[in-house]
Amino acid sequence: MTTETEEIRLSPCEPGRLTPAELKTLFLFEKLTDDQLAWIADHGCTMRVAGGGLVLREGDPATQFFVLLSGTVALSRRVGQDDVQTSRTEQRGVYMGATNAYLRDDGVPRSYLGSMRALSDSEFFVLSAEDFGWMMREWFPMAIHLLEGLTLGMRSSQAAIGERQRLQALGALSAGLMHELNNPAAAASRATGALRERVAGMRMKLGKLAKGKVPPDRLIALLNLQEEVIERAAKAPVRTAMQIADLEDELGDWMDERGIGNAWDVAPVFAQGGIDTECLLEVESRLESPDLLDQAIHWIGYALETEQLMSDIEDATSRVSSLVNAAKQYSHLDRSAHQWIDVHTGLDSTLVMLSHKITDGGIKVVKEYDRSLPQIPVHPAELNQVWTNLIDNAVQAMAGSGTLTIRTYQEDERVVVSIGDTGPGVPDGIKKRVFEPFFTTKPVGEGTGLGLDISYRIVVNGHGGDISLQSRPGDTRFLVRLPLSEPASA
Ligand SMILES: Nc1ncnc2c1ncn2[C@@H]1O[C@H](COP(=O)(O)OP(=O)(O)O)[C@@H](O)[C@H]1O
Ligand SMILES: [Mg+2]
Repeated sequence: MTTETEEIRLSPCEPGRLTPAELKTLFLFEKLTDDQLAWIADHGCTMRVAGGGLVLREGDPATQFFVLLSGTVALSRRVGQDDVQTSRTEQRGVYMGATNAYLRDDGVPRSYLGSMRALSDSEFFVLSAEDFGWMMREWFPMAIHLLEGLTLGMRSSQAAIGERQRLQALGALSAGLMHELNNPAAAASRATGALRERVAGMRMKLGKLAKGKVPPDRLIALLNLQEEVIERAAKAPVRTAMQIADLEDELGDWMDERGIGNAWDVAPVFAQGGIDTECLLEVESRLESPDLLDQAIHWIGYALETEQLMSDIEDATSRVSSLVNAAKQYSHLDRSAHQWIDVHTGLDSTLVMLSHKITDGGIKVVKEYDRSLPQIPVHPAELNQVWTNLIDNAVQAMAGSGTLTIRTYQEDERVVVSIGDTGPGVPDGIKKRVFEPFFTTKPVGEGTGLGLDISYRIVVNGHGGDISLQSRPGDTRFLVRLPLSEPASA
């Protein structure tokens, strides 16, 4: 059993059992006047706790101030899932509990900063937080000013450091983002420059064709031919670099034989576009006079080239916009309070939002929900981004066929959401790297490498949860674990 769920059973506090003289033997009170000691004796009480009992729990409202009279106690702090013992003492007179009660009320309810357990039968002198606070402020006003200064100073320097760390993280992120944006932007502007040249070339070519007294109907036939070849290029099967090189040779020879000018410059354009000699033969057969072939080939070559340049620009700009979209998610990471929700609501609405990619993409969805799960405290919008990113990855990994399995269950003090896919899996060598920002194995235009980084930040930093990966071919699962209760600091 953990301190989080354990019940605290304290025997009633007995008033008036310590005399002023006895109190004076405790180091905390040794310098107090008789009047002050009498006041404390009057307001305090004594409490016994059996060995093993929990005396106070981290996070509970800090209502009492304890002074150890006899016995042994252990103090602990909660770190993630574990209780970590910070000290253990049997020193008479040590104090714990509402030790901050004298600080000015700043509207934030005070809670115990750690837990205390009696290791053996123990006895405590107890003051209420109000009495302890009143007595400190009344009797030691100057000390309180100094203590307040110290506490507030520490808090603001911590806040400044936190701010600084966030800025640094942001700086690293924007540097990475700029770097990533720069490549497609440069590619787009290179392609635009080339496109401008080709379009100018086409205008000139058009002039030449017209001057060559090509009858209008033949000009139209040429334009139609151009359209057809472009369409064919768009449907051409994807070829390997080797196949393209072979095609280039074949096309170059074909054009050389027919005396096409710059044959070896034009051939690669056709090869890139997936056009083969068969297609060129067809072009040839549709031309009425063979002396038009040279012009027609160049004319079509321009069109193929401009098409390619335009799709390069399209790729580059769509990469820019997907990077910007991903970056937007960062700015939406809200710091608002948690809401208590049923995780299934968010999962279902995310599935609906993504249904065009999932079901239209030929993927089957299996839901294995444990509907009896309790509500948990989360930032709902942030969590939906996590589901979106994980489901997106799963769908992309399965590339059109497979099963997406969403399971929920409880494990210890956590709700677990598992997003599983039947794709090829994450190779061992990169398992450690997938959560890094900008790490992606996807081609340009498809991946930003930010999805899992964002998800990690949301789950781990924003919710005190945990996200992990189990993967082998055919069975990849991303497991998101979310605590059932509010994290101590989030
Ligand atoms: N379900 C999955 N199956 C296989 N690989 C995955 C899966 N999810 C993530 N990955 C790997 O992790 C990488 C990083 O994912 P992510 O951060 O979402 O960026 P992106 O999806 O933009 O590439 C992906 O490129 C891919 O290699
Ligand atoms: Mg992704």
